[in-house]
Amino acid sequence: MKAARLMKVFVTGPLPAEGRAALAQAKDCEVEQWNSDDPIPRKDLEEGVVGAHGLLCRLTDRVDKKLLDAAGANLRVVSTLSVGVDHLALDEIKSRGIRVGYTPGVLTDATAELAVSLLLTTCRRLPEAIEEVKNGGWSSWSPLWMCGYGLSQSTVGIVGLGRIGQAIARRLKPFGVQRFLYAGRQPKPQEAAEFQAEFVPITQLAAESDFIVVSCSLTPATRGLCGKDFFQKMKNTAVFVNISRGDVVNQEDLYQALASGQIAAAGLDVTTPEPLPLSHPLLTLKNCVILPHIGSATYKTRNTMSLLAANNLLAGLRGEPMPSELKL
Ligand code: NDP
Ligand code: DGY
Repeated sequence: MKAARLMKVFVTGPLPAEGRAALAQAKDCEVEQWNSDDPIPRKDLEEGVVGAHGLLCRLTDRVDKKLLDAAGANLRVVSTLSVGVDHLALDEIKSRGIRVGYTPGVLTDATAELAVSLLLTTCRRLPEAIEEVKNGGWSSWSPLWMCGYGLSQSTVGIVGLGRIGQAIARRLKPFGVQRFLYAGRQPKPQEAAEFQAEFVPITQLAAESDFIVVSCSLTPATRGLCGKDFFQKMKNTAVFVNISRGDVVNQEDLYQALASGQIAAAGLDVTTPEPLPLSHPLLTLKNCVILPHIGSATYKTRNTMSLLAANNLLAGLRGEPMPSELKL
């Protein structure tokens, strides 16, 4: 009897154990993998995908027309180890009939936890305070030294009340937030009811919020959404947090707003580029806290994401329903 031909899967970096095991058990696939945690160089990516039926990629891999051309006609599934899909040329992928898997939901809690941690770290100036302890700046207790802003009785504005935006609001509510505002493409009365959140234009959200958390997806409409006009509308005492994608923010305008005291502070889990160069002006500011894109970085979450990404890929290759398929 003639053996069935194996499907080629290309994986752009090592996976956590659960995803790795799922792929290892797939006897109908031959898996090729880039064996470094550093992003795969473009040339190696273009070579690696040649003839692949499935691609399991990361948010650092740009899947565009050139890459799809390099892969060729075999390619049936792109499975990304992320919920964000802004690195995928979706129109081009759709026009070729390729299916897309992604990882919504399983990282919501971890990312919301990180967003709240970043907000508290930023508004209570924790990195600055820790530094003062180490560098001898702590001379005595004094009434206004190291003061920041608290959540109690505050107004919180959420840009993008999606899965993660709602999970952030759910966690912030017990801190005594008085009012939630949100901006998005359209009102979501059912989801907003839990927080009695008010749907407002983005300009009103900027002007009335004490804390702003950006948790929208990056699309042509949200690219550069938070720029000069947005920051100029914000209160001088307001704190800005972004956990979505760096490109939602105009970083030069953010720098000006922070350096001039137009806004009080910013906490960023995402930047453009990533990593941010050590010489970047934002890194010189005490009122800007920057994390290295660790929203979903818990062991459990990354394992679950890898299993979901592997299962999406395998189901897509076998022509079965994917656990999480992006509707194109
Ligand atoms: P969802 O699809 O559930 O939420 C996306 C939200 O973006 C929706 O509420 C949507 O609004 C909103 N949005 C879309 N377009 C606009 C617009 N023009 N103006 C304002 N809001 C808009 O996704 P998730 O909550 O699961 O994830 C959101 C994003 O978070 C991801 O796309 C990813 O970029 C980022 N992320 C970052 C992580 C990190 O490590 N820092 C971890 C995980 C995700 P509407 O409700 O009106 O459709
Ligand atoms: C995503 O999934 O989009 C995050 O940015 C990383 O988990």
